[in-house]
Amino acid sequence: MIFLKSEDIQKRIKELADLINEDFKGQEVTFIPVLKGSFMFFSDLIKHINLDSEIEFISVQSYNGQYTTGEPVIACCPESLNNKNVIIVEDILDTGITLDAILLKIFRQEPANVKIAVLLDKPSRRRLDIYADYVGFKIENKFVFGYGLDLNQKFRNLPDIHVNEFTI
Ligand code: IMP
Ligand code: MG
Repeated sequence: MIFLKSEDIQKRIKELADLINEDFKGQEVTFIPVLKGSFMFFSDLIKHINLDSEIEFISVQSYNGQYTTGEPVIACCPESLNNKNVIIVEDILDTGITLDAILLKIFRQEPANVKIAVLLDKPSRRRLDIYADYVGFKIENKFVFGYGLDLNQKFRNLPDIHVNEFTI
């Protein structure tokens, strides 16, 4: 069942990009998209960004099927974020465990400023005190997939975001 339509996603992403452009006007920004889930969100977001920007991907895996393992594995890290403005770009903020682990790594490099952009936020699932600065959509506790998000590594290619009524 379609949960968020492609055109609504695109409209909201443009709004988020406008906010980021405004907040960082005249400054340099290093975007850190988190693979794999954010690849579609990030590629659409960055097209609307008019800032002097760099891109450093990181890769994290923390889900086994629909259930978080609670132990995010971060593969690779950008070099030298010292004194830079960083925006981490994630598909979804759920328990907060993944972003907490990413923040810990990134703060070690002493960036000037770290912000978080997520397409989706499930506040009711939060286990750690993590807040996103740019949120596409706040959603209830449903497992969603499509538009980069997977269900057992499948369906990332779908242009809309879907929800399976039989999953929580
Ligand atoms: P957290 O560590 O619990 O905040 O989980 C964040 C990660 O779990 C995200 O980067 C997603 O990859 C994955 N995730 C959480 N909820 C969903 C969902 O509803 N669909 C697909 N992936 C999800
Ligand atoms: Mg992810």
